[in-house]
Amino acid sequence: MNQDEMKRAAAEAALEYVEPGMIVGIGTGSTANHFIDLLAGMKGKLEGTVASSVASEERLRSHGIDVLDFNSAGQLQLYVDGADESTKHLHLIKGGGGALTREKIVAGGSDKFVCIADDTKLVDILGEFPLPVEVIPMARSMVARQLVKLGGTPELRNGFTTDNGNLILDVKNMDILNPVEMEQEINKIPGVVTVGIFAIRPADVLILGSENGVRTLTA
Ligand code: A5P
Repeated sequence: MNQDEMKRAAAEAALEYVEPGMIVGIGTGSTANHFIDLLAGMKGKLEGTVASSVASEERLRSHGIDVLDFNSAGQLQLYVDGADESTKHLHLIKGGGGALTREKIVAGGSDKFVCIADDTKLVDILGEFPLPVEVIPMARSMVARQLVKLGGTPELRNGFTTDNGNLILDVKNMDILNPVEMEQEINKIPGVVTVGIFAIRPADVLILGSENGVRTLTA
């Protein structure tokens, strides 16, 4: 199995969490795209979906799947999304695709967060993957200086604007030994919209696709 097939296998296993009549929160990225494509097979049974990005919304609509406004959807039962890194405690780094803020919003409004990934994403300590931080454009330099004080090496993601009209700083060299504390610390910097650490609200279930099939970790 190649990496893409492992992602698809994880996405397929997540279908088992989808129940008739649900409104399902949908993440962003190549693994979430597999989930969207597979979900199309059961679209008639869903009440609808909520998308965490314009790209996912477009893909859902291209399959004829209903996409609802999060404000009118209420609390969701299920959110399914990928990740860039996960620990065995299901603390995540997300935002490689730049959709971290909307992802964190929808995850925060969902009873169950099922994370789907290939098993190369499982790490002992978060931070080898550059940590995405969404920032208000006028705060870019100030936030970057604060991130340097925290030991990181921030780099502006060139030519990229988020769905919210903001910028992304990708921060290298962060040893995220205490993900909850680091999430709080970075989120406190004025001008930060959100950091791509998902630890205050971690995933509840992690489905990993691997060479030897799919395995599931729970928090
Ligand atoms: C999008 O902003 C990210 O949080 C994605 O969930 C993450 O980058 C995983 O992407 P892939 O599924 O493409 O690996």
